[in-house]
Amino acid sequence: MKIGICNDHAGVAYKNKLVKMLRTRGIDVVNYGTDTLQSVDYPDFAHRLASAVEAGEVDLGIALCGTGNGMAITLNHHAGIRAGLAWAPEIGRLVKAHNNANVLVLPARFIPYRTASAIVRTWLDTPFEGGRHLRRIEKIPCR
Ligand code: RB5
Repeated sequence: MKIGICNDHAGVAYKNKLVKMLRTRGIDVVNYGTDTLQSVDYPDFAHRLASAVEAGEVDLGIALCGTGNGMAITLNHHAGIRAGLAWAPEIGRLVKAHNNANVLVLPARFIPYRTASAIVRTWLDTPFEGGRHLRRIEKIPCR
């Protein structure tokens, strides 16, 4: 399992902790985010992660910014990406079980780290349910 992770300046601290947590679980992590607190533009990093997922360089992605919305909006412009924003572990479960999100997006300024970590672990441990949810995600592409 190889996971790509990206972030803007609002997500540096959580990114660093998540990378440690994931590596502890034996997961290979590739960093596509910024590593300083200097203000940056989230699309620059979202596009890098999206391209890596689409190219198969990583299996899944995690993205962090202040609200999560800038990352999610940018990521979802990529045809091969289903990015889902989650702010509670149950949403992390549903975004995989029902939406098969291949990128999990976290609002770093609005959840405590322990919640972010629990969301990531739940999302990773949850399988896609398929069935009616497969039919629905197959209807998502519009171009
Ligand atoms: C950065 O200040 C902030 O705008 C960004 O992290 C994110 O919340 C954008 O959607």
